[in-house]
Amino acid sequence: MKTGSDNILPLYTSTDIKKRVKELGEEISKKYKNRNPVIIGVLNGSFIFLADLVRQIKLDCRIDFIQVSSYSGKKSSGKVKFLKDISLNIKNKDIIIIEDIIDTGKTLKFIFEHIKTKSPKSLSIATLLYKPKIKKNIYPINFIGFEIPNKFVVGYGLDYNQKMRHLDGIYYLKNSYLTKGKNGKQQ
Ligand code: IMP
Ligand code: MG
Repeated sequence: MKTGSDNILPLYTSTDIKKRVKELGEEISKKYKNRNPVIIGVLNGSFIFLADLVRQIKLDCRIDFIQVSSYSGKKSSGKVKFLKDISLNIKNKDIIIIEDIIDTGKTLKFIFEHIKTKSPKSLSIATLLYKPKIKKNIYPINFIGFEIPNKFVVGYGLDYNQKMRHLDGIYYLKNSYLTKGKNGKQQ
């Protein structure tokens, strides 16, 4: 894969991801058969995953987006900032929240509690990546693409300082890049 960066190591290729996203789409289509879920993408990181996933979901569904931010560089600030709410009325609807990655679970907690106040009929979560830091059973994380080690990853929508989202595979950032940073400073 040509990425234009020497600072990354491949984790999943676009072929690996395509195969898994197709499986997730089939799982969701089966589980929500005869229902019309509202799919809520968490911006920005989920935009590519959502775009690919919804094309594998054979259901009459609607799509909306919510935007929060908590990260700066590779560190979670721990404080989730609310940037954009959904526009659809989701009262009594079946909701699937789409995340790029669940790391500490703080973002998910914030979004989950917020969406719950809008009285949906049901709520579940689909995440492309999952770092096993939080217990899965705290939230209904019903669809997981890949469980990954506790390392910082980029590509397929995931960023490092807003860069590398466009890469078609998923990559680890090399440790040397993570500990020193581009300008040699500790980050
Ligand atoms: P959490 O609140 O710690 O679970 O972090 C969730 C959000 O942080 C995700 O939606 C991502 O946008 C971002 N994030 C967490 N881990 C990574 C990573 O390894 N690479 C890129 N972004 C990440
Ligand atoms: Mg991010």
